[in-house]
Amino acid sequence: MAFWNDKVVLITGASSGIGRGLALELARRGARLGLVARRKDLLDEIVAEIEAGNKPNGDRATDVLTIQGDVQSGESMRSAAESLRSRFGKIDMLIANAGIGVTNDAAELDAAKVANVINVNVIGAANSVAAVLPEMVQRRSGHLVVISSLAAYRGLPKSAAYCASKAAVSAFFESLRVDLKPHGIDVTIIHPGFIKTPLTAGREARLPWLQDVEPAVKKMVNAIERRKKSYAFPWQLATLVRVGMIMPNFLYDWIASRNSFRE
Ligand SMILES: NC(=O)c1ccc[n+]([C@@H]2O[C@H](COP(=O)([O-])OP(=O)(O)OC[C@H]3O[C@@H](n4cnc5c(N)ncnc54)[C@H](OP(=O)(O)O)[C@@H]3O)[C@@H](O)[C@H]2O)c1
Repeated sequence: MAFWNDKVVLITGASSGIGRGLALELARRGARLGLVARRKDLLDEIVAEIEAGNKPNGDRATDVLTIQGDVQSGESMRSAAESLRSRFGKIDMLIANAGIGVTNDAAELDAAKVANVINVNVIGAANSVAAVLPEMVQRRSGHLVVISSLAAYRGLPKSAAYCASKAAVSAFFESLRVDLKPHGIDVTIIHPGFIKTPLTAGREARLPWLQDVEPAVKKMVNAIERRKKSYAFPWQLATLVRVGMIMPNFLYDWIASRNSFRE
């Protein structure tokens, strides 16, 4: 808990799913939060939930700032970071979580849909980093966290844009990790498997080792506390994915073409 006490954390995509779960968990652990998403009404509901969970004399609500913002806009993210800094004086950690998924049938590829996913998942994460980094570099301290995916490791069926975006974001943060170490800034790349959120809802395909948000978020938070460079989970699916990475292409294609998780 001491790790989070009074840490100022900016979470993007906090209105739903994993981001919402992270907000609730980090509030419980004593962090001060800036929650960013486009749907501010949902962010305000999370604050009410945090308040309701606090002791009657507690005052944690003042420790959460909700900010309407769109990660696709550098200006919007700079302004979000500025609001948080003027409230708490600094930002210790960014959790770049905002993301979207899309099902692509490659035979009917729509480049505009691909651009949209790349814009939110990759450029959105870069905008978020750019908004917090100069002050972290100046202070020689900070922690950048990104929620990538096990889908970053190999191309999955009907997921070209999503897999490309997650591979890009993982490589992007890996480079940042190397470059920013001498500046005293940690980088943690999280690769979750399937988690029950609106992003995975409504699929008929059986999603292997599908996890509930709360335990999944606890695992992520523990990895962040340990300042892990990279964390992939659940271990069963992460192991299969790693085996997939050293598989010959003919075998990978044979298995992958029989396992679409987007039906
Ligand atoms: N669920 C899974 O199985 C799973 C597995 C691996 C990785 N992930 C990754 O985890 C992250 C969160 O996903 P989730 O499952 O929690 O999905 P989710 O419930 O759909 O939440 C996505 C969040 O991203 C926000 N968002 C989307 N576009 C945005 C934009 N342009 N600007 C600001 N915020 C935006 C949404 O807020 P607004 O719509 O209010 O803006 C929402 O809060 C994503 O990066 C996803 O790729 C998910």
